[in-house]
Amino acid sequence: MMKRILGLVASQRKLANGEILIKEAAASIGEEFEVELIKLPELNFQPCKACYACLVPDQRCPLTDDLYFLLDRIKEADGIILSAPCYALGPAAITKLFGDRIISLAQHLDELWGKPCVIIGTAGIKGWEGYTLSALIANARFIGLNVKDAHMFMGALPGESLVNQRSLERIRSLGASLFGEPRQFEEGQCPTCWSDLWKFPEPNHAVCPFCGQEADVHPSENGVQWDFGLAGRRFEKHALKEHFQVWLVEQVREFGNRRKELSEIRNRYKGQDKWIKQS
Ligand SMILES: Cc1cc2nc3c(=O)[nH]c(=O)nc-3n(C[C@H](O)[C@H](O)[C@H](O)COP(=O)(O)O)c2cc1C
Repeated sequence: MMKRILGLVASQRKLANGEILIKEAAASIGEEFEVELIKLPELNFQPCKACYACLVPDQRCPLTDDLYFLLDRIKEADGIILSAPCYALGPAAITKLFGDRIISLAQHLDELWGKPCVIIGTAGIKGWEGYTLSALIANARFIGLNVKDAHMFMGALPGESLVNQRSLERIRSLGASLFGEPRQFEEGQCPTCWSDLWKFPEPNHAVCPFCGQEADVHPSENGVQWDFGLAGRRFEKHALKEHFQVWLVEQVREFGNRRKELSEIRNRYKGQDKWIKQS
């Protein structure tokens, strides 16, 4: 059966690194497949207004933009390849505009759950990739996709990300993971979500800021010893459903119950404000 692959390109450049990497990854899948591409910046995404209307059963986000167009394309696909360039140490903003609509998107977890996905970050300079890959992985896991591989590819100039053989091999193995075995976590990464960023709320204790994985960290003969403790639960299906379909609904109800008390606080700040507007 022909598999449908959806390639999401967050770069605006023509034949961008992200675009050619998606094409190379797709070519390595080794099954009958059809690749359809969407340039995310060509879609219209409005910023979330925090109205919570999407929490009402069967109610859609009231913003009129391309959110549901993209959601439907993701639902139709058998596998997703997402690529995004690193801009200012994080993923290009279009991915955040989409990711911020998580409350609407999380109402569709059952339909999206477990859909295979691989993620390609592109960055110009080694060491300048910032939080790009962790944020992209979190976006995908938040909507229930099964992230099978994720990697940052380096190269500032368009085409440069595929100049060397190592990158070519890495993108091919990433492509093969889409419908194959997921890769294992790499040293320094969170074993649950693969983020490579950590917080250290206490000495010798690390917490993954994305999924909540905990670890005790101690100096050892070979450097640093990481003893992973409680697994990060945030991206598990029941945890996502509990947060986005139950807890948030309770918060909306709670706001209704406490509206008077909270309005008294807020109304102290109501006044003749000077808002600067673009005319
Ligand atoms: C506005 C802007 C900001 C950038 N910021 C970073 C950065 O913080 N770190 C980095 O390594 N590269 C940065 N780059 C370089 C791109 O990530 C790099 O050129 C990458 O190959 C772009 O991928 P693409 O060809 O798929 O668009 C930036 C590029 C632009 C245009």
